[in-house]
Amino acid sequence: MLQRIVKPLVMAALLLLSQLTYATEGMWLPQLLSGLNEKEMKGMGMKINASDIYNINKGSLKDAIVSFGGFCTAEVISSQGLLLTNHHCGYDAIQKHSSLQNNFLENGFWAKTAAEELPNPGLFVSFIVRIDDVTKAALQDVKPGMSERERQSAIDKRINEIRQNAKKESWQETMVKPFFEGNQYFLFVTETYRDVRLVGAPPSSIGKFGSDTDNWVWPRHTGDFSMFRVYAGKDGRPAPYSQDNVPLTPKHFLPISMKGVKPNDFTMVLGFPGRTTEYLPSEAVKQTVQVLDAAKVEMRDAALKIMDGYMRKDEQIKIQYAAKYASTANAWKKWQGEMLGIKQSNGISKKQQYEATYRQLLNSNTTLKQQYAGVLDTLNALYRQIQPYAQTRDYYSELVKNAEIFTAADRLIDFLADVREKGEGQYESLRQQFLESMQSFYKNYNARVDHDVCASLLELYGKGVPKQYAGAEYAQLSAESNNDGRALADKIFNLSGLTSLDKLKAFVQQPYNAVVAQMWKDPATRMAMALRKGFVDNVSKPLADLQSNINRLQRTYMQSQMDVMGSKKRFYPDANSTLRVTYGKVDGYSPRDAIHYDFYTYLDGVMEKYVPGDYEFDVPAKLRDLYKNKDYGRYGVNGRMPVCFIASNHTTGGNSGSPALDANGHLIGLNFDRTWEGTMSDINYDPSICRNIMVDIRYVLFIVDKFAGCTRLVDEMKLVP
Ligand code: ARG
Ligand code: ASP
Repeated sequence: MLQRIVKPLVMAALLLLSQLTYATEGMWLPQLLSGLNEKEMKGMGMKINASDIYNINKGSLKDAIVSFGGFCTAEVISSQGLLLTNHHCGYDAIQKHSSLQNNFLENGFWAKTAAEELPNPGLFVSFIVRIDDVTKAALQDVKPGMSERERQSAIDKRINEIRQNAKKESWQETMVKPFFEGNQYFLFVTETYRDVRLVGAPPSSIGKFGSDTDNWVWPRHTGDFSMFRVYAGKDGRPAPYSQDNVPLTPKHFLPISMKGVKPNDFTMVLGFPGRTTEYLPSEAVKQTVQVLDAAKVEMRDAALKIMDGYMRKDEQIKIQYAAKYASTANAWKKWQGEMLGIKQSNGISKKQQYEATYRQLLNSNTTLKQQYAGVLDTLNALYRQIQPYAQTRDYYSELVKNAEIFTAADRLIDFLADVREKGEGQYESLRQQFLESMQSFYKNYNARVDHDVCASLLELYGKGVPKQYAGAEYAQLSAESNNDGRALADKIFNLSGLTSLDKLKAFVQQPYNAVVAQMWKDPATRMAMALRKGFVDNVSKPLADLQSNINRLQRTYMQSQMDVMGSKKRFYPDANSTLRVTYGKVDGYSPRDAIHYDFYTYLDGVMEKYVPGDYEFDVPAKLRDLYKNKDYGRYGVNGRMPVCFIASNHTTGGNSGSPALDANGHLIGLNFDRTWEGTMSDINYDPSICRNIMVDIRYVLFIVDKFAGCTRLVDEMKLVP
């Protein structure tokens, strides 16, 4: 009896909960904060105004934030263009300057003077000058009944016009991006600096402490930071690298708070989050975690296990595969966290409940019902239809990415196609280019590792992909080896001309026609072509058609959610690598029964994890000494050295390197990761378990000053006691 009353009540409460957008959910547009968020932010403790965050008439916080190379975020922390970002964001730059004699990854790097700061060709940072809503102009030629392609070209034409007519200085750029799945468009005026120099980085045993084992996990003890400097021409404008360039004088730089944080303190993170999909229907969420994540994890499980086995036995292989292993493992681990998080937080049934509310509200409004009836059902049905194609795409792309021999084969095929297109007269010069580009590929290639990866992944591909999608050529090749992955790989690696740079050189030493003829016989290129043909003939067209329908309906569904839910839910656009503001509170969390995580870690925890000589958990002698002597200078508190902390800011990939700011807009930390239980925040944010991980700014300063002795850098910062 009681059951019967209580259950509906609980259901109603759950429903209500699922309809609310929690205060800490959302990646908000900086120029819209005053209307949408300012009141709430102040209620949560913020002391500054929205106009201090985004302002086009005077320097504001946004002027201290840059997109770092298009893949991370960084912030300006001095009047001389000093930049702070993550160690893993600066990793490539640090690696490129490293050699066996000067191994900056291993030992760290500190420019003692400005003259020692190192240029990084290709690296750039972009500031946001202004953001304008251009939705009306962008969509003015869009008519009902247009196909997706017609619609896009009508929009593209207008976007060109918008960009051409945008008010800007000659050295600035423009970009127009779709928001809310193409329902809104915003223009960005940006300023890009291409003389960005490496200033400092801790050794990996600090900057990457805990490595893959600790990745995506709390408690964390990583000093994941590195420093760069933006240089400009003498006029302060962007200029290509030159010795005569001068440090940039920014419109704004972040003062640094020495106060630290307490539970419940207001925090915000400004940065460039890459991609989220928060408005998917339940079928899509289910498919992402149960089918697509699962397939990708299965493939990478196999590849990573093999790499790891070889890396542990062989120092040379460890060097060759360390970076590949880290990047393959990063997404692999995140997908597993995502699968787990959706399950534990009942993400799919929450979506279904949300959809039930949406339907109910829709059906009670005649106008909206007419406009949007059937959208959600059709969308869910389309996701069911696309499933086998999407799954095949993921198996295919994981196979050709992780079995590197197919990457080599694809590049050979593309090179020969290029010759055919440009004419045989170009053969010689294109061959030189091709061989040069393949040199770096083989530098980090080991055919034994790849043989085993290839065997294992071909086996999984054969099992995971239905025959009709893999295609007849693949079926034929597979049958020739009794449909056995290992036999297939044996044949490929015994006979192919692509298993080493020397063999490849001999292969393409022949005249063009002979190379083409041999390409058709080589078992690696044959298999690569069979796989590609299967995909192109049987998958890419239906996949693209279904995807285009899905995109159209996602757009309509997005708009309909906004119209139907009205004031019951606050909407923020999915991440799309544009500048966003997210805010939350410093807070621990309880992921499971009887487990509670504290919000702070200390240097004591680094020492607890210390394993002498270990590649993930070694600790430099100097840091051990500083710890032993409690020599923390002005950076410690009560005899302890804070290291990392967590808060409920809604972040994603691309937010790495983003500043964590306090209620006054002062820098308190540097964002670099999320917690294991909360990586599903990209598809379904849950405020009870989603936390972002930041390194405490005082740990950064301590490492720069006390550990590295690079006091000149701290001297140019503005520390607020
Ligand atoms: N998980 C973080 C982010 O997605 C950090 C990755 C770098 N660290 C690592 N151990 N691979 O990018
Ligand atoms: N580690 C991520 C990054 O590199 C941040 C995240 O996904 O939380 O951008």
